[in-house]
Amino acid sequence: MSDKKQVQLDWDNLGFGYIDLPYRYRAYYKDGQWHPGQLETNSQITISEGSTSLHYGQQAFEGLKAYRCKDGSINLFRPEENAKRMQKSADRLLMPQVPTEMFVDALKQVVKANEAYLPPYGTGCSLYLRPYLIGIGDNVGVHPAEEYLFSVFATPVGNYFKGGLTPTNFLVSDYDRAAHRGTGQAKVGGNYAASLLPGHLAKQQGFSDCIYLDPIEHRKLEEVGAANFFGITKDNCFVTPKSDSILPSITKYSLLYLAKERLGLDVKQGDIYIDQLDNFAEAGACGTAAVISPIGGFQIGDHFHTFYSETEVGPITTKLYNELLGIQFGDIPAPEGWIVKV
Ligand code: PLP
Ligand code: COI
Repeated sequence: MSDKKQVQLDWDNLGFGYIDLPYRYRAYYKDGQWHPGQLETNSQITISEGSTSLHYGQQAFEGLKAYRCKDGSINLFRPEENAKRMQKSADRLLMPQVPTEMFVDALKQVVKANEAYLPPYGTGCSLYLRPYLIGIGDNVGVHPAEEYLFSVFATPVGNYFKGGLTPTNFLVSDYDRAAHRGTGQAKVGGNYAASLLPGHLAKQQGFSDCIYLDPIEHRKLEEVGAANFFGITKDNCFVTPKSDSILPSITKYSLLYLAKERLGLDVKQGDIYIDQLDNFAEAGACGTAAVISPIGGFQIGDHFHTFYSETEVGPITTKLYNELLGIQFGDIPAPEGWIVKV
């Protein structure tokens, strides 16, 4: 079904945007079960005006990438982890789980069908995959829907934050994106809706995004609007916040493993107090879209805290970046089970 002839885009300036590709996968849940999904060509969806996803935010999504390798094969990075996370998000919002096999099969179908848009090896770009699960059907009261749509679309992407592996600055926000015991651990639209205004205010002031503090005391670092935070202490420990109101980032868990097993660093998940940033030599944001984005500094009220440098990338951040991307693009052997071939 797919036309495999490579489509050429301006890979150097691609950024992170939506391009309407030829195919997306859709499956519907009705009468208590999933019905067989299929590829569709129309990017528009028609749903009831009473859909719970529209009014009550009963929806969840995922984000992962497909990578073109040097030998022409295609890698998915830890897709079962995304499937599991979407199952947890579904549980939190009383939606039916999408089985892992169905989730991964949908990803493979979408990548294969849109292969012409998969960025070539060496461009640094990849094919971003966006699975989503939404409550649909005729409803109006606040209760879970009886019908659901699970879909996956794809779009070729480059850097999420300007400059990729160049440090950028972040604003420590006065706002919260998620509450303690709320939905911060789930990848659901409501968390992102809450982050729009703070993110906008940060960007208006020239920052890449904001970084949130813990919603109880506002003393500990939580995460960036669309990525987790990590720091490298002056004595070479990879540290990342542990909190029940942040998204469990698959990239973060991968870096915890790589930092320990491949770089020989100590690693720790724990509290990072905003008044103890001097402990850190380097810092970064990590995630599927963000990959590893070095953090130059934080604006905290009137004070600006610089980490490694506002222009140069630290040595450990660079090593982690090379290791992670090397694995994703198939240049470096991956830990068992991390790569699924399309
Ligand atoms: N935190 C937030 C709020 C995110 O949106 C993302 C992106 O998915 C991440 C962290 C990173 O998660 P992952 O590494 O699984 O992409
Ligand atoms: C991702 O990294 O996949 C994300 O979901 C981040 C953002 C684009 C919401």
